[in-house]
Amino acid sequence: MLNTNRGQDPEFTMPTYNTDITNEDKEPIRREDWHFRAVVRDLSDNAGASLLNYARSKDNILSLAQGEGSLTTPDFIIDAAAKAMKDGYTKYGPVLGQPVLRQEIANYYVKHYNINLPTNRIYVTGSGTTAMHLALTAVLNEGDEVVAVTPIWKNLLGAVEIAQGIIKDVPLEDRDGDWHLDLDKLFDAVTPKTQALLIVSPSNPTGWVLPAEDVQRVLEFARARDLWIISDEVYTRTTFDTDRAPSFLDYADEDDKLFVVNSFSKLWAMTGWRMGWLIGPAKAESIIRDIAIYDNMGPCTFSQFACVEALRHGEDFVAQQRDMWRENRDYVLKRFEGNNRIHMNVPKSTFYGFLRIDGVDDCVSFCRELIDEENLSLSPGIAFGKSCKGYLRICYGVDRKVLDEALDRLERFVNK
Ligand SMILES: Cc1ncc(COP(=O)(O)O)c(C=O)c1O
Repeated sequence: MLNTNRGQDPEFTMPTYNTDITNEDKEPIRREDWHFRAVVRDLSDNAGASLLNYARSKDNILSLAQGEGSLTTPDFIIDAAAKAMKDGYTKYGPVLGQPVLRQEIANYYVKHYNINLPTNRIYVTGSGTTAMHLALTAVLNEGDEVVAVTPIWKNLLGAVEIAQGIIKDVPLEDRDGDWHLDLDKLFDAVTPKTQALLIVSPSNPTGWVLPAEDVQRVLEFARARDLWIISDEVYTRTTFDTDRAPSFLDYADEDDKLFVVNSFSKLWAMTGWRMGWLIGPAKAESIIRDIAIYDNMGPCTFSQFACVEALRHGEDFVAQQRDMWRENRDYVLKRFEGNNRIHMNVPKSTFYGFLRIDGVDDCVSFCRELIDEENLSLSPGIAFGKSCKGYLRICYGVDRKVLDEALDRLERFVNK
């Protein structure tokens, strides 16, 4: 039986179906004893995934570690998938997506971004993560450098590694109660080996947003240096004080070397559906099709009809969820105001907070002890970049009761 009470019950136990099966704890497998592709064998440590697995091996763990909200997919979206299955959409489909969904995504950009995109620039993918892999596979040669603004969601760095790229990170600066990107540092990190700039705005884990003027400057720089921009815009519509964050699509021409990654996961509470999309220059269509054929022969057919409904009728849900996240963000900030050891810049978007705790400089040990002593699971900052050893990420997109209990446990542990 699947446990569906996530978000309602402070004593929530991570469902066992969600646990990766591993025998790491019993009998460590030495990767070097076998032949595996070197790049995979030597992948950089994924402290966040290891800690999640550690937490999931225990009972009664409360988690703010996973990047998903507590609301479940709205019924009208689920019903659309069921109907599509009954209507026979259970077979292979077009590799770059059903025409009706590609068109609906185009409509979505007209409605919410005031941007006209032809459908030959829109590629439906089996998740935002897959969209990122397709883009990186399309542009990287072995040893190409990717300049990435960090902290950044670890999976994107992993995707660069798997594509045999080399990451050069440019950390945001945490000063004066906010996150700042020094564009000169970003530009200085570019070398003749750089193939792409990788930017996630709004950012997982900080909620930082790249301002519109900087979007334009980065675009001009990339044009001048003939670089690709890979822009992860999964959280563009999760901003709290504006309707949405600036997008590279606001300023780019259709021939710019730009890939934009997006996802159905967060806005429509569809993390388990594994649906996303990629936008590229029209010239990329046949390249992306070639890669997608060999990758997975295209996204799930019937899920795409659910995505059409999400785009057509999901706005009330999107607004309701965003209100809940905003209220929770304000609640977290208020709680931390009363704790002079915990510091968190105001997230301008997303459902994440990136915290610093006085005296904590080893986030992995901190997270482990928090699991052991308080049954609370958070993400270690190091998972988002090597400059983030002293940070922790919380996901506050959860039910208030769960959030409240989690913050009680965190504060009790910190104040010990
Ligand atoms: C910045 C960012 N990009 C992409 C994704 C992945 O989205 P999907 O669930 O569609 O793979 C996430 C998920 O947490 C994310 O935070």
